[in-house]
Amino acid sequence: MGPGDDAGIFRYKNILLVETVDVITPIVDDPYTFGAICAANSVSDVYAMGGTPLTALAILGFASCDFSSPVIKHLLKGCIDKLGEAGACLIGGHSIEDNEFKFGLAVTGAVDKKTILRVAGACPKDVLILTKPLGTGILTSAAKRGKLKKAALNKVIASMLQLNKTASKAAVLSGARAATDVTGFGLLGHGLNMAKSSTVDLVISYDKVPLMNGVRKYAASGTVPKGAQRNLEFCSKDVTFPEDFPKEAQLILSDPQTSGGLLIALPPRGMKKFDAFAKKEKMPYWLIGEVARGDGKIIVK
Ligand code: CO
Ligand code: CO
Repeated sequence: MGPGDDAGIFRYKNILLVETVDVITPIVDDPYTFGAICAANSVSDVYAMGGTPLTALAILGFASCDFSSPVIKHLLKGCIDKLGEAGACLIGGHSIEDNEFKFGLAVTGAVDKKTILRVAGACPKDVLILTKPLGTGILTSAAKRGKLKKAALNKVIASMLQLNKTASKAAVLSGARAATDVTGFGLLGHGLNMAKSSTVDLVISYDKVPLMNGVRKYAASGTVPKGAQRNLEFCSKDVTFPEDFPKEAQLILSDPQTSGGLLIALPPRGMKKFDAFAKKEKMPYWLIGEVARGDGKIIVK
């Protein structure tokens, strides 16, 4: 695979193994929930490649004097339960003394040669589909500053806990040409990766991009993670915004996501199948734009 792909693929005899690793720092207080979010986030790269997760190895960094064993137990329980939902199992891992708490997984999956989804391959006229609303970075920052109500935080958590399993199946079934998961580089960062790898432009309609409740309000009041600003700086030379497009909207499009949804480029003829499967599985999705001829840029409308 290329450097922009979500995972590596290794052929062993006639099996194609999909391999990826992701490590994150806590974004919620409850260890069980954090373990589960970590698992959903780590298996997401396998789903983004059109694969099925099989096994995982845990990577844990913690200051043993600060964290009692029940915390670790709950963390692993959350992780194992979520992996179970994905049909994968935790088969081992490694921990290291670390002042900053970290947790992540190296995940191995398998993929069928015919269903590999790569970040490259999007073609002009393909529709762009996003399967989760944006805002986990902005809203978890608000929560860290004590500004987010419990009920609102629970909605963000529910979204992060959602596996990209159904989204991946929908993409594979409907003949998607390219896919990637929207994570740390935000929609613009991951979108640009798709645009550049596919040598096309992505035309995104801001009005159609789904946002979590409260994202606009917090972004406007400056509650934005540093990562969003960095992402925006990194992307801005390849992104065109409408005139007078508000800074907060630019930052929302750059907001780093944890366990974000899939961004899928689908030929219009695949829409019917995609929609039928999504409806059957009660999976929400949003058409946020389309692919155009170009050389690796994003045009926001
Ligand atoms: Co990814
Ligand atoms: Co990743």
